[in-house]
Amino acid sequence: MPTAPDELLLPCAELHLHIEGTLEPELIFELAARNGTALPYANLEELRSRYEFTDLQSFLDLYYANMEVLRTQADFADMTRAYLRRAAAAGVRHVEMMVDPQAHLLRGVPLADCINGVASVLATSLEDFGISAELIAAFLRDRPAAEAEEVLEQLLESRAPIVGIGLDSAEADNPPEGFVALYRRARDAGLKCVAHAGEEGPSHYIEQALDLLLVDRIDHGVRCLDDSELVDRLVRDRVPLTICPLSNVRLRSVDTLLDHPLPQMLAAGLNVSVNSDDPAYFGGYVDDNFALLRDTFDLSADQLAQLAVNSVEASFAQPARRAELL
Ligand code: HPA
Ligand code: ZN
Repeated sequence: MPTAPDELLLPCAELHLHIEGTLEPELIFELAARNGTALPYANLEELRSRYEFTDLQSFLDLYYANMEVLRTQADFADMTRAYLRRAAAAGVRHVEMMVDPQAHLLRGVPLADCINGVASVLATSLEDFGISAELIAAFLRDRPAAEAEEVLEQLLESRAPIVGIGLDSAEADNPPEGFVALYRRARDAGLKCVAHAGEEGPSHYIEQALDLLLVDRIDHGVRCLDDSELVDRLVRDRVPLTICPLSNVRLRSVDTLLDHPLPQMLAAGLNVSVNSDDPAYFGGYVDDNFALLRDTFDLSADQLAQLAVNSVEASFAQPARRAELL
């Protein structure tokens, strides 16, 4: 893993991070042993050999399979603590972390064990790791919308400490338009709204997320470049796009990092930030993403600082915390 030089440790906010995507192979084996969960891999090497992806779905298959080791509140807490420790070293000072409660409920893990496990660690993350934190409940777009609506009701009823909702999982053929009622309910409850759009799906899914779900941010959004009018709109309205360069390479949205459109997006004036998405799967945390971008594109100190400032400005951090980080 490349170690970022000091000048890369910009205080930044990580806005696109799936906590289940931080489950490192070592922790997968540790939790499986603790819970007596049988793994379909004999050892770490065999597990690591599966981390070659051809598209989003090939990654999701492994991501959901590996979740099987998460059984208890302590498992969720340990995973969250491990991420925060690593993120602090990467220069992250504020995180808005997605969790997939629906995926865990479907496996028979009670909502409270998942949410309380993560939230109990986030409650003291500023004191323990110097990272302020918010939690986003993400819903699975390849499952029925009614199921997501039911899980949202349970989250609201139990007063789960979430700042907002998101939409993730397999994007192709699962457009935002199916989730209008879910997002309306979330907004009415005072929650922030984000959604993955334009990762593998077409650019008009980004428009749908904005026009129908009224999202505050777009996760990914790289496919906006297929539509120049949409780019103009995103620039004009300063819509934040949470870009995940290594994720895009590993899921084959682009062939190599050199082909990534991030410099083009910055030059167009888009409000982009750099994020790690599922760092245990895609070859690096935020500092690795920054370091590889800088080295690949020879980004200037000003460009790197702009990316860090964008991340804080696009965050849902409390005003006093935003002011501290800007
Ligand atoms: N894309 C969509 N869904 C996801 C991802 C992702 O990169 N990671 C976890 N769920
Ligand atoms: Zn994501």
